Order: sequence, then structure tokens, then C-alpha cells
Amino acid sequence: MKKDGKTEQAAQWLREAQHAIAFTGAGISANSGIPTFRGEGGIWKEVDPNYFNIDFFNKKPLVTWKIIKKVFYDQMTHAQPNLAHFILSIMEQQGMIKTVITQNIDHLHQDAGSKNVLELHGTYKRLICTRCNTEYDYRFADLNFLPPTCFVCRGVLKPDFVFFNEKLPATTKQQAFDEIDKTDLVLIVGTRAEVFPANSLLEKARENNARIIEINLDATEVTRQLTDLFIQGDATNVMKQLCLQLTCSNQCKCDEREKGITGSDIP
Ligand code: APR
Repeated sequence: MKKDGKTEQAAQWLREAQHAIAFTGAGISANSGIPTFRGEGGIWKEVDPNYFNIDFFNKKPLVTWKIIKKVFYDQMTHAQPNLAHFILSIMEQQGMIKTVITQNIDHLHQDAGSKNVLELHGTYKRLICTRCNTEYDYRFADLNFLPPTCFVCRGVLKPDFVFFNEKLPATTKQQAFDEIDKTDLVLIVGTRAEVFPANSLLEKARENNARIIEINLDATEVTRQLTDLFIQGDATNVMKQLCLQLTCSNQCKCDEREKGITGSDIP
């Protein structure tokens, strides 16, 4: 089936869905200038993931914080949502997408206006004290003086995102599984879904006979094992095509939306 036939099919399935959700990974933020983790130019190609093991961080916070600042904070603090993020937020406003489950820590879904966002891996926006659990907005800390320390107990502050060997936020994880139990359509955008619980959430959706649409530059293990409709392409371009398919007769104003001017509603 040609790509625009596939986006037409995807639009039809989204219209028919009772409780569609989006499931996103680093690929949706690639066009916002945030590197993905694997593949060409991926973070794990440049940085040894062991620095992001929670036990290593607790032993040598300064070493990891220097990398965290360079790899995450120097990139994410200036990143803006791209059209794919905005379209998902419009689809939520139109009741077409109920929730976004994201593995991303970049807060770009919320910055684009999405309200129901489950951040499986946490967020860079919050810091938490490793000693007394006091929470801070990341702007509290001057990241030119590392590691940042707690105002209350002088403990070392950690970004509130999930490190390797660290448990996921229990409430968010449960909420994600609850969403999967309710959904009849998952729109996957830009993830290899190689880590837990991404993979098991999608397997669960499959067991529940949810339709699975996947948008990715390349085929993934998910494509081979779970996806019903694979749309190969750049997330921003494919989401724009999908938006055009979903929008009623008058021409979609996605470009205007991109510039932040309201456009026509999605029926
Ligand atoms: N459009 C669509 N897909 C894209 C684009 C793009 N412009 N750019 C990259 N991709 C796809 C890649 O083909 C790849 O399949 O996005 C996917 C990104 O995969 P990963 O780099 O593995 O990122 P992700 O799946 O989000 O990783 C999940 O792993 O290391 C952990 O915590 C980390 O949250 C991360 C998790």
C-alpha cells in the first residue's frame, strides 16, 4: 500500500477508535534537535550508558553530572516542540488521542499543549534530592557548579529521570498499564521500544487486540512482531500527512499551526 494510502487507513482507524493513545520515543523529538539514543549519531554511540547506571551516579555524581549537563540540559533547555508534538496535542483537544505515553524526558509534549502525558522515564525539568527527596525545578540549580546540592540537607541533587538499574515511577507505570488496558488503538511514533516497560506495554496492547500503527524512519522489532500498519517516514512529515487526512474538507492549516496560529479543527 502506498504511504498516502497508509495514512488514509491510519486516519480511518483513528476515527473508528474509542480510546486511541500515542506511544512516543526519541524519534518524535529528533526534528526538535534532540539526539536519539540508538542508531546513527545516537547518544549511546557517544556516551557509555554505564555512566547512567544509578549505582555509578551515587558513587561519582560529578562525573555523571558533567555528562548529563552536556548531553541533556545543554540540548533540552532550548528545544522547541515540532509539528508532530503539536498535532498530537490537537488530536487530544479533538478527543481523538486520549493520552500520550512517552519515554522522552524532554517535556516537549506538554510544551506543545498535550495535557494527558505519562512520562514513563521521568523528566529533566525536575531535580530531586538523593538524601531527603526534596524536589526542585531544574532552574533552581546553577549547572555551572556541579553536582547541584539540596538547599535543605546539602545532599546531591539528581535529575528526576530514570537511570539504568533504577525503578520506574510506580504510579506512572501503573497508569500506563491501565491506559493500555483501555486502548483499542496505539499510535507509536519514533521508538524502537527496546527497553522495559515499553516493549511489554505494546505486547499487552497486542494481546488486547488493539490496533497498532507505527511511524518510524526504519522498521523495528515492533514492526516485525506487533504492528498492524507501519508507515515508514519522518515523524513530522508523516504526522502532517495524517493531519491532512484527518482534517475536514477545507485545507489543513498545519503550517499555520506550526507557526502557532490556530487552523481548522480535526473532525
Ligand atoms: N522520524 C521518525 N522516527 C525516527 C526519526 C524521525 N525523524 N528519527 C529517529 N527515528 C526512530 C529511529 O529509527 C528509532 O527507531 O526513532 C527511534 C529511536 O529509537 P531509540 O534511539 O532507541 O530511542 P527510544 O526508542 O526512545 O529509546 C527508549 O531507551 O535508553 C533508553 O531511556 C532511554 O527513553 C530511552 C529508551
